[in-house]
Amino acid sequence: MRLKRASIFFIMSVVIGSCYYDSFEALHPLDGYVNPCDTTLQSTYSSSIKWVISYNCLSCHNSSYAGGNVSLETYDQVKYYCVNGKLPNSILRNSGYNPMPPAQALANCQLQRIQQWINNNYPQ
Ligand code: HEC
Repeated sequence: MRLKRASIFFIMSVVIGSCYYDSFEALHPLDGYVNPCDTTLQSTYSSSIKWVISYNCLSCHNSSYAGGNVSLETYDQVKYYCVNGKLPNSILRNSGYNPMPPAQALANCQLQRIQQWINNNYPQ
């Protein structure tokens, strides 16, 4: 009986745990936010790129702590590091650049969104 209860608790916490990672929008109901994994939508800075950067990069690249002296808080800053090639090369983990984020690569769909944003000449 005790074991059964423990295993139900275990299963519940796994289920709840996986929901936590799936329901980004439910947790962060941000106006104008567009799911960065929906590659059929056009990437703009304010609807998607900003949120990919905030959730994956800003903890280390803000005005009070900027790893490698790189701050990614504003449109101009993000665009600057795309234009000079450092941001795309880092997120693609190309050799000669520090791989970003350091621990784990972005999801493919997020990489595609950023690439689309660059190809479309950085829509605001
Ligand atoms: C855990 C902290 C951390 C996170 C998260 C992080 N960075 Fe970095 N980043 C650093 C540090 C520290 C450096 C300086 C180089 C080094 O020491 O690795 C750096 C360097 C960079 C550089 C310069 C790379 C070069 O080779 O010149 C770029 C561009 C960059 N980060 C972009 C990003 C982007 C985009 C994200 C999110 C997708 C991100 N970083 C996430 C810590 C982080």
